[in-house]
Amino acid sequence: MKFFLDTANIKDIREGQAMGVLDGVTTNPSLVAKEGKPFKETVIQICEIVNGPVSAEVTAPDLEGMLEQGRSYAKWHRNVVVKLPTTRDGVKGCKTLAGEGIRVNMTLCFSASQALLVAKAGATYVSPFVGRLDDISTSGMTVVREIVQIYRNYGYPTQVLAASLRHPMHVVEAALAGAHVGTMPFKILEMMFHHPLTDVGMERFAKDWEKANLKDLEKAMK
Ligand code: G3P
Repeated sequence: MKFFLDTANIKDIREGQAMGVLDGVTTNPSLVAKEGKPFKETVIQICEIVNGPVSAEVTAPDLEGMLEQGRSYAKWHRNVVVKLPTTRDGVKGCKTLAGEGIRVNMTLCFSASQALLVAKAGATYVSPFVGRLDDISTSGMTVVREIVQIYRNYGYPTQVLAASLRHPMHVVEAALAGAHVGTMPFKILEMMFHHPLTDVGMERFAKDWEKANLKDLEKAMK
């Protein structure tokens, strides 16, 4: 499973990269706006840190605008993946951009039927939003499982990018479902490291080691 960070925060991306487990980054207009820096500059900076796909989302709601922004983003850096919304114009845009050799991540996907459409339009990634479905009392992970199964049934090459992940179990469940990618906030990546038994084990090893060394020291002093 590939791990992407769902952020535009440069410090967090550098830290994720240093952990050695980062395969890419996804951004969206809300995440970029939060950092308060120019969009193009931010995307290029991220592309230079991470040796993998970096999703940059269009803001135009219409086909013409999406194509114009998408073609422009794709020229910024070889790592850029154009993110389009799963609307009627978004799917049309996906078909056109994919035909031009531009990788597309179809975002705001909330159903298996939408995922079928984007696979047929040649998307490189589909992003089902797990947490936002859970928020409205619908199982986001069920949608991920359905998409994975449908893509397998027909051999669609579109990769399932589980998005809107809110806790480590979302990542684990997405992996069990066979999602190709999980994109997560930095906080979740950090949470995945933690286990109280690892901490207790470390403390115990350190204490035992210290005791043994003290004994050796006492022996040597006799
Ligand atoms: O980047 C898209 C998605 O991961 C957003 O997540 O937490 O805002 O629903 P969230």
